[in-house]
Amino acid sequence: MGDLGDALADEVSGFPPARLGEVVRGLIERYRTGVDPRSVVLDSEVAAVAYAAYRMPATHAALGAVFDVVSGLAPGFEPASMVDVGGGTGAAVWAALAAWGSLREVTVIDQSAQALALGKRLAGRGGLRGVQWRRAGIGEVPPADVVTMSYVLNELTERARADAVAALARAGGLVVVVEPGTPAGYERVLAARDVLVAAGLRVVAPCPHSGACPIPTGQDWCHFTARLNRSAVHRKIKDATLGFEDEKFSYVAAARADWAPAPGRVVRHPVKRKGLVSLRVCGADGALADVTVTKRTPESYRDARDVAWGDAWTGNGSP
Ligand SMILES: C[S@@+](CC[C@H](N)C(=O)[O-])C[C@H]1O[C@@H](n2cnc3c(N)ncnc32)[C@H](O)[C@@H]1O
Repeated sequence: MGDLGDALADEVSGFPPARLGEVVRGLIERYRTGVDPRSVVLDSEVAAVAYAAYRMPATHAALGAVFDVVSGLAPGFEPASMVDVGGGTGAAVWAALAAWGSLREVTVIDQSAQALALGKRLAGRGGLRGVQWRRAGIGEVPPADVVTMSYVLNELTERARADAVAALARAGGLVVVVEPGTPAGYERVLAARDVLVAAGLRVVAPCPHSGACPIPTGQDWCHFTARLNRSAVHRKIKDATLGFEDEKFSYVAAARADWAPAPGRVVRHPVKRKGLVSLRVCGADGALADVTVTKRTPESYRDARDVAWGDAWTGNGSP
């Protein structure tokens, strides 16, 4: 499989950077003020290319981080099929094919012909095999081992969101929903999680339980972060100087089969001081706990020194 960054650089090279920058600014404004659910945002070739150049490296990084967590929980899970709903230019497909070499049949569903066409060209450049690009609405989800929907719920009405997630639940053995790591994105993920649980799926990640989220409403939001390098093209389009960015995301993964979730999940940046690590952990009992790990428990302390935000936590520590 080729490199997404290289494929993007080749596609972008056909457009003047100033034109792409202008279209990116328009897209940012549309996403910031809220997308009209009746409209198609990626409605031209240049809009699709600008979206891919500006957002796809980040959505790809977030999905890669999610699939790393999920595939790590069930190393024996070897999905053959995947459907990515509202898949646009195919970020989830690149990340899923990297996580699961067993995938043979992959379908990307989207309403934007231009996004699908670009996704197909990028996949061709990267040598991605077995991917079908289907123009359709989000309600039409064929059954698959893995069904994903990333960064789409914000473009739907509240009613359509619940229907869309219910369609994912009917179709998928494993369902993954990803949204921006903002308070609003987290709220949408929480609502999606409720729909998945009501449909009989069990939460696999990030939560180690399928009960109510213990984060008090309005006080905090569960999210994670994925660091990605910015290519020269990416920097130019974003008018950015830093060579990297941190993509914040919220997500839920839920499965129909009985998966064993992690015993605990680190839901904040660990605070590491000399001889001591403080972790905020969401536990299998459905509660949040602030755990302090010291050298008095050497094994747990070694684990705690290495653990990162979003990782599973299996060790001990005192509250
Ligand atoms: C922000 S983009 C996300 C693309 C991709 N999933 C990603 O993570 O990069 C949202 C996508 O959802 C698609 N979409 C929005 N509403 C849709 C609908 N009702 N039916 C099909 N696709 C839809 C858009 O065309 C667009 O490609």
